[in-house]
Amino acid sequence: MAVVTCVEDLRQMSKKRVARAIFEYVDCGSYDQCTLRANRADLEKIALRQRVGIDVDNRSTRSTMLGEPVTMPVALAPTGLTGLNWADGEVLAARAAERFGVPFTLSTMSICSIEDVAEAVEKPFWFQLYVMRDRGFAASLIERAKAARCSALMLTLDLQIQGQRHRDLKNGLTVPPRLTLATALDVLSKPSWALNVLRSKRRSFGNLEGRIPNADNLTTLSHWIAGQFDPTLSWKDVEWVKKLWGGKLVLKGILDAADAKIAADSGVDAIVVSNHGGRQLDGAMSSIRALPEVVEAAGGKYEVWFDGGIRSGQDVLKALGLGANATLIGRAFLYGLGAMGEAGVRQVLEIIQRELDVSMALCGLRDVRDANPSILRPL
Ligand code: GLV
Repeated sequence: MAVVTCVEDLRQMSKKRVARAIFEYVDCGSYDQCTLRANRADLEKIALRQRVGIDVDNRSTRSTMLGEPVTMPVALAPTGLTGLNWADGEVLAARAAERFGVPFTLSTMSICSIEDVAEAVEKPFWFQLYVMRDRGFAASLIERAKAARCSALMLTLDLQIQGQRHRDLKNGLTVPPRLTLATALDVLSKPSWALNVLRSKRRSFGNLEGRIPNADNLTTLSHWIAGQFDPTLSWKDVEWVKKLWGGKLVLKGILDAADAKIAADSGVDAIVVSNHGGRQLDGAMSSIRALPEVVEAAGGKYEVWFDGGIRSGQDVLKALGLGANATLIGRAFLYGLGAMGEAGVRQVLEIIQRELDVSMALCGLRDVRDANPSILRPL
């Protein structure tokens, strides 16, 4: 690839470099992928409002998330198996985020552990929690996140059980990656990925290895999740988590005004409007369509963040225009990581910031914090 100009370029590079089972784990959604496509299609349908004759010198993309200053209101979302896209992927992404000045969220289902990441960065990062059937283990994850000085806990509510991703089953996705005759050809055609990832220190779930049964045994991911994640997770447990954690709490996976209202009563600091990137309930409304009703239901009681389909700064601006205080990117940064490691993540952040900055200017907006519905045109 001669000149990288957009996130899609990095997606193409990642597709070429990363083993198919891992690339498709990142790239695909659940079932018929209707919600995955709707996330993008509905974002594309929104029109920004072009304004002229306004002094747009001295623009700023700076904002805050949970009171922490950010270079732009775009955090790295928690993503599973990040370190299988590039060795030590979580550490590299956390470093790229720290250097750029945006938050990084480590997933429970990461390859590098909480402690690995804590050692590699100076500023606090965020930790995403999946509540396992073994509540003692969930409590120990919270304690480890505290010990690692994580500054927020992001509790995911939309994956009590996993939506089926056809490609993961067809690819026989296992953790650690299994070399079979079927995968050997793929891996042989991805020599730089194989040399990099297959030689790295960790290839299984860094937070779980040796701590819960079968975390490091060869098993299909979906099978393992079905056995470990707690399907009874309820709003009562949110209270339990909040008490144990005692710090800033973010709820991820709210897509409905009714749930946004309950969240307000549980005293959270922020929520993420999300359908898990179209990876869970296929047929669910796109995140961007759900955003306005959730913003209204939140009534300013907590920050409302948005994820689901962001590939550009224009997408970020649209979400801010519809009332989000900030956004998260998952696939977008993973494409950069899979393509070029830490430099790729940095490049994604730079691309999105440049796009955000230029689009703000062309909408007549100088300060990203002033984004509101007036920067959009109803179609
Ligand atoms: C896990 O969070 C996944 O979406 O696979």
